[in-house]
Amino acid sequence: MSDALSALKERDTASICNTYARYPLAVERASGTRLYDSSGKEYVDLLAGIAVCNLGHANEELLGTLTSQWSKLGHVSNLFHQTEQVELAERLLATCGADKAFFCNSGAEANEAAIKMARRYMHTVKDRDAYEVITLDGSFHGRTLATLTATGQPKVKDGFEPLPEGFITVPFMDIDAVRAAITGKTAAVMVELIQGERGVRPLSQEYVDALVALCREKDILLIVDEVQTGLGRTGKYWAHQHYGITPDIFTTAKPLANGLPMGALLATDTVAAAFTPGSHGTTFGGNALVSAVACTVLDIMKRDGICEKAAQTGAYALDLFRSLQERHPGKIAEVRGLGLIIGIELTIPGQAIWQGLMDAGFICNLTQGTILRLLPPLIIDPADLERYAKELDRLLAQA
Ligand SMILES: Cc1ncc(COP(=O)(O)O)c(C=O)c1O
Repeated sequence: MSDALSALKERDTASICNTYARYPLAVERASGTRLYDSSGKEYVDLLAGIAVCNLGHANEELLGTLTSQWSKLGHVSNLFHQTEQVELAERLLATCGADKAFFCNSGAEANEAAIKMARRYMHTVKDRDAYEVITLDGSFHGRTLATLTATGQPKVKDGFEPLPEGFITVPFMDIDAVRAAITGKTAAVMVELIQGERGVRPLSQEYVDALVALCREKDILLIVDEVQTGLGRTGKYWAHQHYGITPDIFTTAKPLANGLPMGALLATDTVAAAFTPGSHGTTFGGNALVSAVACTVLDIMKRDGICEKAAQTGAYALDLFRSLQERHPGKIAEVRGLGLIIGIELTIPGQAIWQGLMDAGFICNLTQGTILRLLPPLIIDPADLERYAKELDRLLAQA
């Protein structure tokens, strides 16, 4: 660790709550698909701020929108009509089967809104005392009290008891367990179609079809958390479009404004009727500045065929990594992914490999100790993935 990094780490420890196990790297500058540390060393960014900067860093067109919009109208609150917010809602709704949007500031907030909408829908529209939300083992839905309770990983709940009532976690991809958990109190089932934080674990088509049928049979809602999988990451605008389903509610956040904090809930008209003036809200959500930037994000995505690009580059990357698995069958257990959400599950501890990749100038994430997770900007050059694969090949050969 350089002297500059040690000094910054010391000040960080002294001044900031100790909630993050930070990487041994301070990023000073970022541009396109590259990060730079204070010594000027360049890194290929295969993480994109955890699935956020899908169009890369310091994008000139977004900078143009940011500055012109800030000069014109930045923030006035949701007390006012704002063209930018409506334009963003219209653009988002054009990508999916939802009818209404609600804007907030993060993934956890979007999921919190989804849980609130499901409960209020049951109470006020259906006149049912139904409030329970069923979630899956291994899921990650956020860090607010409700969303951490919904999350199917004990580590995020530790020490925060008593947890809010009304959440049930069932085993992963076990449809009988969902059926057994449904009672008259059930309002919704909430899932990630590909569990990101758990190491890129997809739900099967068969399971999702059965889940949709079960929700219809029991007249409960299906909420899909697309905070990590949404907006082109999987090669379509929404992961649920690969499965051919229309959720009652789905959520998005990370890449919506390419790095400005923004989240959104999208819902059918029927379910969105649960939200009436005063029932939910936020000061910042969907302000003119972030909405205008997100509009430009969506315009660029459409103009430049970003979903198609992610699908093509992702398919190429999966082939590349699967050929590595053939070369190192005892060291790579599985390569999973869809588009540019990719998990390479090692059979050996991943820390040294991950560190070796970083030393060689490649930033990815290590999750669950053994799974290398790649969430690169969707504009990543396939040649960068080839270079990453070559380095991984070298490190695995030595491991
Ligand atoms: C699937 C999923 N849901 C929700 C969240 C929470 O989003 P945020 O950190 O913006 O609150 C995350 C964050 O990683 C996520 O991956």
